[in-house]
Amino acid sequence: MGRKLLLEKAHVEGIRHYDVYRREGGYRSVEKVLKTMSPEAVVEEVKKSGLRGRGGAGFPTGMKWSFLAKPEGVPRYLVVNADESEPGTFKDRYLMEFIPHLLIEGMICASYALGSNTSYIYIRGEYWWVKEILEVAVQEARNAGFLGKNILGSGFDCDIFVQPGAGAYICGEETALIESLEGKRGNPRIKPPFPAVKGLWGCPTVVNNVESIAAVVPIVNDGGEEYAKLGTGKSTGTKLISACGNINKPGVYEIEMNISVEEFIYSDEYCGGIANGKKLKACIPGGSSVPILPANLLLKTAKGESRMMTYESLSDGGFATGTMMGSGGFIVMDEDQCVVKHTYTLARFYRHESCGQCSPCREGTGWMEKILLKIDQGKGSMSDIDLLWDIQRKIEGNTICPLGDAAAWPVAAAIRHFRDEFEWHVTNPSEAVVRNYGLANY
Ligand code: NAI
Ligand code: SF4
Repeated sequence: MGRKLLLEKAHVEGIRHYDVYRREGGYRSVEKVLKTMSPEAVVEEVKKSGLRGRGGAGFPTGMKWSFLAKPEGVPRYLVVNADESEPGTFKDRYLMEFIPHLLIEGMICASYALGSNTSYIYIRGEYWWVKEILEVAVQEARNAGFLGKNILGSGFDCDIFVQPGAGAYICGEETALIESLEGKRGNPRIKPPFPAVKGLWGCPTVVNNVESIAAVVPIVNDGGEEYAKLGTGKSTGTKLISACGNINKPGVYEIEMNISVEEFIYSDEYCGGIANGKKLKACIPGGSSVPILPANLLLKTAKGESRMMTYESLSDGGFATGTMMGSGGFIVMDEDQCVVKHTYTLARFYRHESCGQCSPCREGTGWMEKILLKIDQGKGSMSDIDLLWDIQRKIEGNTICPLGDAAAWPVAAAIRHFRDEFEWHVTNPSEAVVRNYGLANY
C-alpha cells in the first residue's frame, strides 16, 4: 500500500474541526516555518520537493513561487484555485470537505513564504456546503491564533477569505479567476504578464491549486528531500486521483506516483476493475481536457512499456500515442460506451463554457458540437469527420486561454484513435441511432 500524505487522517472522527486536527498533529508546519525558517527557506524546500502544480498543468510549484515579483511597498497575494470544474475531477472537493484545516495550514505556510498578508480561496459556487465548512475552519484557525495579526508572536500577519464563484467553468482559468475575484466578468487575460508579475488588483499573485497547497504541509514537516523520495522521476510525492465511470469502486484515491495504470484500474485497493465484468475500452486519465486513450495505449506505451501513473509516462508519445496526467480526473469507459456520443457531450460542455472572447473558440466549439450531434444522430457524412478534424486544428494554439485547446484535444484524440467508430455512425446510421437513442427515436 502506498504512503498517504494528504488523506491519511481524513477520516479521523471530528478532523474537520480544529481541536481534533490539532490533536492529530495539525499546524506543526506553521510553528516550524514561523519559528525556525525564513520565507526563502520555505520556497527552497518546495523547490527541493519537486512538487508540480496539481490543478492540471503540472508547472513546478517552487519555480512559480520564485517567479513572484517583489516590488517595494506593493502587496502580494496567494490565491487558492478551488474552482474545481473539470469534468471527472472532484479530488479537491474531497480534501476540502473532509480535512479543511490541511488546506488552511498549507496556505499559512505558503502565505509566509510568498509574503501574502491577505490570501483567498476562490471556490466554485456549486460547492456551497464546502464553502461553509471552510469558513468554519478559517474562523477556528483565527480563534486559535493561527490567523490574524502577529501569528504566534512572529510578527507575520495573515488572514484568509473564502470567495465563491457563480458557476462558470472559465473562472478556473487563473486570470479569469482573478478578474472574477476583482468583481468583474470572468474573462481570461492575455499572458504574459503572468499573475506572478501582475495579478490580483495588478499586484504580484500566485495562484495555486488546493492539492498543491495542501502538499506544502508534509513538505515543510518532513523536508523537500523526503517528499521527493516518493514517486518516480519528475513525478514526486503523492497525487489525488478522482476515479469515475465504469469501474467497481469510484472514489478519490491518494496514490504514490509509482504504480502502473493497470494496477490502478484493476487492483482492489483502487478502482477494483471494470464494472459488470465488462472489458475496458478507453480512458481519459486527467479530466475531460486531456486526450482519450484506447485500452491498448492506456495500459502500455507505444514502446511496449507498462504505462505508469506519472506525468512522464502518461504523456509518453505526445498526443499521438499518449495523453496527460492533467487534473487527475480519471474517467473509465467500458466496451459499451460510444466515443462519438461521449465526444459530443464534451463538445457541448465546452461550447457552453466558452467565454466568447476569441472567435476560434467561440465559433469553433459551437461548430464542433453541431457536427458531432449530426454524426451521433446518424445524419453525418464522411466529409463531416474531416471537417471536424480541420476545425479542431484551427482552434488549437490560436486562443487567449487553454479552454480552446481543451475543447480541441478531446475531438482530435477521439478521431485519431476511434475514427472507425465515427465512420460506423456514418455508414450505419439506423443502428447508431438505435444504439444511442433507443428504438423510439428510430
Ligand atoms: P499554464 O501552463 O499556462 O500555467 C501553469 C502555471 O504556471 C500558471 O499559474 C502560470 O501563471 C504559471 N507560469 C507559467 N509560465 C510562467 C512564467 N514564465 N512566469 C510566471 N508564471 C508562469 O496552464 P494553466 O492555464 O494554469 O492550466 C491549464 C491546465 O488546467 C490544463 O492542463 C487543465 O488540465 C487544467 N484544468 C484543471 C481544471 C480543474 O478543475 N482542476 C479545470 C480546467 C483546466
Ligand atoms: Fe474565452 Fe475560449 Fe478565448 Fe478562453 S479560448 S478566452 S474561453 S473564447
